[in-house]
Amino acid sequence: MKSLVLAFVLLFFPLVASTTTLESFMQCMRTRFSDHTKTFEIVYSSNSSSYPHLLQSSEQNPRWVNSSRSTLKPLLIVTPFHECKIQAAILCTRRHGLQIRVRSGGHDYEGLSYRCKTPFILVDLVNLRSVDIDLEEEAAWVQSGATLGELYYSIAKESKVHGFPAGICPSVGIGGHFSGGGFGTMLRKHGLAADNVIDAYLIDVNGRILNRELMGEDLFWAIRGGGRASFGIILSWKIKLVRVPQTVTVFTASRSLEQGAIELVHRWQYIAHELPEDLFIRVIIQDVADNPNKGSVKAVQAMFNSLFLGKLDSLMQLMNQRFPELGLKGGDCTEMSWIESVLYFAGYKKDNPLEVLLDRNTLYKSYFKAKSDFVQEPIPEVGLRGIWERLLEEEIAFMIIDPYGGKMNEISESELPFPHRKGNLYNAQYLVKWVQDGVEASNKHLHWIRTLYNYMTPYVSASPRAAYLNYRDLDLGINGKGEESYSRASVWGVRYFKGNFRRLAIVKGRVDPENFLRNEQSIPSYPALKKRR
Ligand code: FDA
Repeated sequence: MKSLVLAFVLLFFPLVASTTTLESFMQCMRTRFSDHTKTFEIVYSSNSSSYPHLLQSSEQNPRWVNSSRSTLKPLLIVTPFHECKIQAAILCTRRHGLQIRVRSGGHDYEGLSYRCKTPFILVDLVNLRSVDIDLEEEAAWVQSGATLGELYYSIAKESKVHGFPAGICPSVGIGGHFSGGGFGTMLRKHGLAADNVIDAYLIDVNGRILNRELMGEDLFWAIRGGGRASFGIILSWKIKLVRVPQTVTVFTASRSLEQGAIELVHRWQYIAHELPEDLFIRVIIQDVADNPNKGSVKAVQAMFNSLFLGKLDSLMQLMNQRFPELGLKGGDCTEMSWIESVLYFAGYKKDNPLEVLLDRNTLYKSYFKAKSDFVQEPIPEVGLRGIWERLLEEEIAFMIIDPYGGKMNEISESELPFPHRKGNLYNAQYLVKWVQDGVEASNKHLHWIRTLYNYMTPYVSASPRAAYLNYRDLDLGINGKGEESYSRASVWGVRYFKGNFRRLAIVKGRVDPENFLRNEQSIPSYPALKKRR
């Protein structure tokens, strides 16, 4: 039974890891917590037939799979069914000088949940994804390995008048999303996903399981948006459900250049963040050529994509008063339930069964690079025109702008590590995708997006030029080693966290002084604290 339970196969080792280390690691995994007879985990080595599929199953951005020699694949993939095996994985990797990567939904923009430059073990939480709804308390416990789709589905199965304010793509994992902030169509009404977390269970570097009370308020603060995988492995989150109306209204109104797209986006910048918080109108500026690869004519359009937490009549009244320039008609809009709006924003049809939300396969898998900004002053029309021109240069590129204001203005910059609150009109995300593998192809697209980012400099926040952690961008900087690690990390840290970065580093020094949990952009320890030890 034990041999079935622990399916270790030892045939492949990267040159850098010795056979003895890995054998000892596996022995350690076998023996730790072996009294847990009811639990089992499967550990896959690279010659197991399931390994390639498992490795790539939730990986959102395959950029590193074939093209990067400096990135190693995991020595082993562990998919625990019980928390005790995560504890074992942490303690055994520490003991044997290996690194650990944790993956929930695999959507990290830079692949840091499944790639590493030194020998490592991947803990994939795919089997830890329960969602327990308590309607009386209007709360839920959700495990990190669940996806947003699984969470939304579970809520909708229990209630027509509850929802949760988190991201749009259903295959995004709870673990990475909540620990980086997490926002979607209800952010103006209810804030970030992390704003609605009220408790959590975390396994720390010593293998202890801690809830909010045991971990203390500083660490609980840090894990809600402050540097994913820096403080522990978060097992589960207790969230506050929010009330949603039985009927909501959605619309998507696309406008071409000839229909005044630039003037409309320009106007939107003055309006969107000040609308009542029930109304969220984001804009996606993108090339709408049918098939750019087959040479169809390129044309960049602005797509106004909206959720209104209310009925059509009220929406029309609001739009006529506040944004008449868009020329929205009742026929452009559809009333539906909140959960149907989740399908709508994810790109499904209204009559698709809700069960599509349970599909963990990502809808949008491709090679991509993204960058983000926060905009605090409206960009003049001439500036927008430059964006249009640049988007025309690429095959598959777009810019998504999400309005802030509303609830986001009411929460202070230091309430959570995510500091981008009052004063921001909107978040801007630039994305380029491509289909051809290889260094040359990716360099071309990387160059394009970096040029666009440079172009945006005069129009976006400065000192720091802020960025959103969940749109991870290694161009902003990576960690150094030893003494210089805090100062090197500050370069990217203040962009994601502003003044909260120092507090995060202080928490890190307390809970993981040896910096066991680390990656290219993990929080370093605050140096003064380290010296005092
Ligand atoms: P993944 O598993 O790759 O983890 C991301 C990071 O968190 C890694 O560093 C990982 O080690 C760490 N981590 C994961 N689980 C952990 C755990 N249990 N404990 C500790 N650390 C853990 N964002 C947004 O705010 N709104 C949106 O609408 C969208 N939409 C969207 C669409 C698509 C297609 C993509 C690819 C991404 C988004 N995102 C987004 C960004 C998304 O929120 C971000 O990439 C999340 O970190 C993804 O979380 P996963 O668990 O899927 O990633």
